[in-house]
Amino acid sequence: MTIPTGRFLHALNGAALLVALAIGGVGLAPQARAQAGDAKAIADIEAVKKRAAAAANDYERARYDPIHFKPAIDAAKDEACLVCHSEIGKAKPRAASPAGVKADQTEAWYQTLDTYAGKQEDFHWRHIQSPLAKQVMNLRCNFCHQGNDVREEAANNSHASLNTRTDWAKNAPAFTLRKMVNPSETCLRCHGNFPAENMGLSGTWPENREGLENAETPNGCLTCHAEQFRTNRHQVTYLNAKAIEELAKKGSDVCYGCHGGRQWYRIDYPYPRHDWPGMPTDVPDWAKDRPKQSDARFALPAK
Ligand code: HEC
Ligand code: HEC
Ligand code: HEC
Ligand code: HEC
Ligand code: HEC
Repeated sequence: MTIPTGRFLHALNGAALLVALAIGGVGLAPQARAQAGDAKAIADIEAVKKRAAAAANDYERARYDPIHFKPAIDAAKDEACLVCHSEIGKAKPRAASPAGVKADQTEAWYQTLDTYAGKQEDFHWRHIQSPLAKQVMNLRCNFCHQGNDVREEAANNSHASLNTRTDWAKNAPAFTLRKMVNPSETCLRCHGNFPAENMGLSGTWPENREGLENAETPNGCLTCHAEQFRTNRHQVTYLNAKAIEELAKKGSDVCYGCHGGRQWYRIDYPYPRHDWPGMPTDVPDWAKDRPKQSDARFALPAK
């Protein structure tokens, strides 16, 4: 593999600047230039197709395509990414591990949830195309991919001037060092620990659910969350709030699936704490620093 030189990058920076100048961003600082309206033009599907065709024999040009950087990536529809990355929808996991363990003869703990259907599939498929994913969530490429600087795959890199920070909670960086996405602002939201302590519960959910669930009330979460606590939830673009509640009538694995049942982390995500009807006026200690609103970038369009 060849190590890319700064040349392509500079060429691109130059191109972006020319576009900005043409649009009227003369003399603007980098930050302002980035907002000067070129993002939409770069992410436009026809423009992407043209660049993809032009870059067909030029790997470096394609991997440094301006859509991989802020601000253009924020304006990118999935279709624009898929012009070059259709492989994402077709990838398959290995039928057997390198050591020879066959996938169809093993079961991971998260596959035991009632909602899990079918065989092991590719990561992207599970989050975008699986029947469950399509029902409960709406994850776009740029929900996770806030950019892809192929040189660094890290924050504060060559493109720091083009605003690699997000407006996520606490101004979290778009990248985590050597990772393509920021896991604590993406994965952790749905793959954290079951936050039992914050609920005044002790023990695991499997222990707690025993006393709460039977054939008539298959979802023990709703014992407390149907009317009593935190009833104002999931009002964001990347989740399908109504569908979640509808599906959750069938059982708590729907809820638990994103709140402890597919846990990759020992910690839980510090969710925003929206006001809800009848909430107590005193704020518990653990909730003192919590925002009262979801991140602005996920706000639902005003009706
Ligand atoms: C013009 C074509 C093109 C477009 C459009 C495009 N990409 Fe890429 N992308 C590439 C190429 C080429 C690479 C380098 C692939 C490699 O090295 O295996 C790449 C690399 C990546 C990588 C890193 C892959 C790796 O293995 O290092 C990610 C992640 C990525 N792109 C995401 C996106 C997202 C998200 C979008 C839409 C916002 C997008 N790309 C749009 C061509 C494109
Ligand atoms: C739920 C978060 C998430 C979503 C949504 C998502 N990706 Fe990814 N993507 C990842 C992660 C995590 C990786 C692996 C990164 C690594 O290996 O460090 C990845 C890897 C990639 C790669 C590198 C190739 C590979 O297989 O490793 C490409 C290209 C890519 N994604 C494109 C896309 C496109 C295009 C979309 C939208 C259709 C998309 N992604 C949606 C999280 C996501
Ligand atoms: C908005 C919620 C959400 C986010 C964000 C999210 N996931 Fe998931 N994840 C899910 C759901 C729901 C499933 C189960 C889908 C199904 O059963 O079809 C799942 C399934 C998985 C699986 C199981 C795949 C399989 O085929 O068995 C893995 C691994 C995973 N997620 C890792 C990640 C990683 C890593 C990230 C961050 C890059 C991430 N997830 C971000 C909700 C999410
Ligand atoms: C015995 C009642 C009870 C049960 C059962 C229960 N919860 Fe909770 N839950 C609470 C209370 C109380 C809070 C905290 C309310 C507050 O913000 O003051 C809470 C908070 C939460 C939070 C927000 C945590 C945070 O840190 O902001 C999530 C997520 C949650 N519950 C999900 C679930 C899920 C999923 C289930 C079922 C698997 C469940 N709860 C079962 C009472 C319960
Ligand atoms: C697809 C994954 C997913 C499913 C399914 C899901 N949640 Fe969540 N939940 C999330 C995410 C992500 C957030 C944070 C949303 C945001 O950005 O504000 C959240 C937030 C919450 C909160 C915090 C509410 C607040 O104050 O903003 C509670 C409580 C909660 N969920 C309970 C539940 C219960 C109960 C169920 C089942 C009825 C459930 N969740 C199903 C992913 C999920």
